[in-house]
Amino acid sequence: MHLNIKKVTNKLGNLFFIEGGRDIPFEIKRIYYITDVPGGEVRGHHAHKSLQQILIAIKGKIIITLDNGKKEKKVLLDSPEKALYIPGGVWRTMQWLDSDSILLVLASDYYDENDYIRDYEIFRKMVDEGFWNGSFI
Ligand code: TYD
Repeated sequence: MHLNIKKVTNKLGNLFFIEGGRDIPFEIKRIYYITDVPGGEVRGHHAHKSLQQILIAIKGKIIITLDNGKKEKKVLLDSPEKALYIPGGVWRTMQWLDSDSILLVLASDYYDENDYIRDYEIFRKMVDEGFWNGSFI
């Protein structure tokens, strides 16, 4: 799901803002950002059980590949105006096209390694067993 970020522009630049619970479907409990990934490299390779996230390439270009265990979708984040919502149950990778790209992530919960699924076979098994309802993507 794409969300458009509110923007205030004047001759001194652009200001973007996002309000938890208003613009996005959760209250924000954590913010993190990823920088200095060598161009072409791929991060991610995991799913979350229940964490919801919003991904924004506030600078540069990053390709996000989403996989719900049944189908795959690629989304190019190439503007600070674009936000991508990802609920639980979605395997993702993020490929940095330029190393000076910056990925900002807004998350619905604190960091918890127990919410991660880092083994693709286990992810597929959980999809098949109906761990998540619905099929985002
Ligand atoms: P990870 O989410 O696996 O990053 P990516 O999918 O981009 O490769 O996190 C990388 C490491 O950082 C991992 O050891 C967990 C740790 N980490 C935290 O300690 N706190 C956090 O908020 C996040 C997102 C990761």
